Amino acid sequence: MATTTDIKFNVVAGSTPFVKSKESSGKIFKECTKKEKEFYENLSDDNSLSKLIPKFFGTAMKDGKEYIILEDLTNGYNKPNIMDIKLGLSHHDVDLEEIYSKPNDSDDPNVNFETLKQQANMSLHKELYQSWLVSKYITTPKLGFCVCGSQRYNLSSNQVEKNQKEQGRLLTEVTVKEKLYEFFSNGYEFRNDIIEPMIERLSLFKQYFENNPDYRFRSTSILFIYEGDNNSKNRCDIRLIDFTHTKLYPPHLKAHSSKLSHYKSIDINNIDDNSDATFFPIDGGYLFGITNLLKILLSLKNKLSHQQQSTQSTQNQTQPQQ
Ligand SMILES: Nc1ncnc2c1ncn2[C@@H]1O[C@H](COP(=O)(O)OP(=O)(O)O)[C@@H](O)[C@H]1O
Ligand SMILES: [Mg+2]
Repeated sequence: MATTTDIKFNVVAGSTPFVKSKESSGKIFKECTKKEKEFYENLSDDNSLSKLIPKFFGTAMKDGKEYIILEDLTNGYNKPNIMDIKLGLSHHDVDLEEIYSKPNDSDDPNVNFETLKQQANMSLHKELYQSWLVSKYITTPKLGFCVCGSQRYNLSSNQVEKNQKEQGRLLTEVTVKEKLYEFFSNGYEFRNDIIEPMIERLSLFKQYFENNPDYRFRSTSILFIYEGDNNSKNRCDIRLIDFTHTKLYPPHLKAHSSKLSHYKSIDINNIDDNSDATFFPIDGGYLFGITNLLKILLSLKNKLSHQQQSTQSTQNQTQPQQ
């Protein structure tokens, strides 16, 4: 691994050291944790998740530290606009085995769905509220996602605008929409040409989380990337990144992974008012977060087409009479 020609790499969130070198074009080196290394090493190519994450090229040592080698998702972009969105209702590791313990008297490997539901409702409320609150992001318990960081090229001011987690923590359900609108704008106009393929790609993630049989994720992000340079080829991408807290489902929960993914968002100002709330946190709210993100992107797209239609009709109305 190269040591002398490390080059600048766009990191918009997180705290783990990354290295990128000229010699290893298209690849980046992330300081490795045992769990993330194991996650990548154990993932087979035919798993439906492999198409949604960066390619993995093994590990390397540098200065006595081990790194995982990953595909650089920003490779080839001239002005990469990037947003790191952490998914889930909680960033806190809750022990699923404890919450959904397998009843002692049952030999059924799939366990009864009703039993799991009861276990969740009995034991989870207080604990989950605590972990939601420690997430520190207003949107996490409401929407199942939060914006941890972003960078965007504003072509009008000719500046790269960066946002860090401190700004992300202040976003609400309303202002997060504005932030996403801003992210998909270049200072002159909203990038309608990008939002459509992004919605298509995000739908693949929704499909994945609707039927994720294997993994229980925590603190994993969706990374949005698109080309911000008008003079470069249009391109965009979405991938899941950051698997330091990813675990396999306990076997007795696998059969229920898609059923146990429905949530109601809670009112964080009134957490005790949960009379008819039901939480099935097996996927930690990932499906909930992706569904809300999709709704927001669709509403931005529709907002724009409404605006275009009304501009069009105003223009038609003001056409001089022949
Ligand atoms: N494969 C990748 N390609 C391009 N950028 C990446 C990639 N992985 C991570 N990043 C950048 O690094 C940041 C932090 O990555 P992450 O894996 O979440 O680290 P941490 O474990 O410290 O949170 C992301 O927000 C993104 O900007
Ligand atoms: Mg991260």
